[in-house]
Amino acid sequence: MRITITAIKADVGSIGGHLTPSKALLERISEAVNEGGKGLVIDHFIGHTGDDIAILLTHDRGSGDEQIHRLAWDAFRAGTDTAKEQGLYGAGQDLLRDAFSGNVRGMGPAVAELTFDERPTEPFLMFTADKTEPGAYNLPLYLAFTDPMYNAGLILSPTVGQGFTFTVMDVEYVEGDRVIELSTPEEIYDLAALLRDNGRFVVESIRSRATGEQAVSSCTTRLRNIAGKYVGKDDPIMLVRTQKSFPATGEVLAPFQLGHLVAGFMRGSHVGPLMPVKAGTGVSFFDGPPIVSCLAFSLREGKLTEPCDVFDHPYWDWVRSNVARKASDIRAQGFSGAAMLPYADLEYGGITERMGRLEDRFTIR
Ligand code: 13P
Ligand code: 13P
Ligand code: MG
Ligand code: MG
Repeated sequence: MRITITAIKADVGSIGGHLTPSKALLERISEAVNEGGKGLVIDHFIGHTGDDIAILLTHDRGSGDEQIHRLAWDAFRAGTDTAKEQGLYGAGQDLLRDAFSGNVRGMGPAVAELTFDERPTEPFLMFTADKTEPGAYNLPLYLAFTDPMYNAGLILSPTVGQGFTFTVMDVEYVEGDRVIELSTPEEIYDLAALLRDNGRFVVESIRSRATGEQAVSSCTTRLRNIAGKYVGKDDPIMLVRTQKSFPATGEVLAPFQLGHLVAGFMRGSHVGPLMPVKAGTGVSFFDGPPIVSCLAFSLREGKLTEPCDVFDHPYWDWVRSNVARKASDIRAQGFSGAAMLPYADLEYGGITERMGRLEDRFTIR
C-alpha cells in the first residue's frame, strides 16, 4: 500500500515565554485535526517539544497534498485563537502568512513528508527539536548514514553497506531550491565540507542506494527568509524510516549521545549543546538548552501504533547530565566568542542598530 506520512510543526503560542504550549491549546489543535481529518487522514498523532506542536498525519494522498496541508494550517489557526484567548506568548508566532495558499511550505510551519510503498513492517522515527535550526540534524545524519563508528550496519548489512544518496539544500539561496546530490561513501569528504556549515547547508533527504527507497525527510525552513526578520528559531522536524535497507533505529539514535553544539538557545542567537529529551519536555535554562525529542512508531496500512518515547530510558538520563554540564560550560562565557553566534547570524535586529549607532563614533588615528 502506498502511504504518506506528513509531519507539520509550528509554534502558535506558549506559557510563560517560549517554554511550552498550554493543555487547552493542545486540545484545541487535537479537536481541529479530529474533526477536519475525518475521511481525509488514516491516522494522526499530536505532540509537543518545547513550545512547538507537531501534527503527524498518515494518509494516501501523496506528499504536498493541499487538503492535508490545509488541515494542519487550519488546526494551527484554531490553536492560535485559543492562544490569544489565554494570553499565551507569541500567539500565532510561526504562521507568517494571512491566507493559506495550497501548501504550508514557505508559510512558517516546518514540514517533513515521506511517501512510500509500505513495507510488511514499517518502523519510523519522528524527531522534533526546539531552540535550534534545521542544520542541527546534519551531524547526526552524517554519522548515522555514513560512519561505521556509529552505524554497524555499514559493515554488517549488505544493503546498508551499499551506501546512501544525500540531497542537501543551500538554505541561504532564496530564489528557489538550490540543491545538490552526493553519494556516500565515495563523496563523504564533499558531504562533510558542506554539512560543517549548519546554517547554510541542510540535509533535505536521504535515499538507500541499494533500493532507491527514501529513508529521511527533514525540513529546511528558514523563518528569517520568509519573514525578512527574526520571528523565532526554525525549530526543525524530521522523519526517518529505519531497519532493513536503512540504519537500525539504535544506529540513528547513537549520534545524539554527543550533545553536539548547535545554533539556537536564548533569542536564537547562541550556541548550545543539543539535549535529547523525553517527549513533551519544555525548555527552561536560558530558554534552552536546545532540545530534541524522538518518537518511534510502527505503521500498518497507515494505522499508527502508540508512540515509543526513545529518549525516555536510563541511558539518556546519563547523556542529559553530560549535556547539561556542557551547556553550563559554554554559558559561563556569556556573550564572548564562540558562545554567541557570529554577527552575520545574530537573529535579533537590536545588535545591528547598536552597531550602526557606534559606527559614527569610531575615529581613525
Ligand atoms: P533483533 O535480533 O532483536 O531483531 O535485532 C536485530 C537488530 O538489527 C538490532 O539492531
Ligand atoms: P522559539 O523559536 O522556540 O519561539 O524561541 C524564540 C526565542 O527567542 C527563545 O529565546
Ligand atoms: Mg516561541
Ligand atoms: Mg520553538
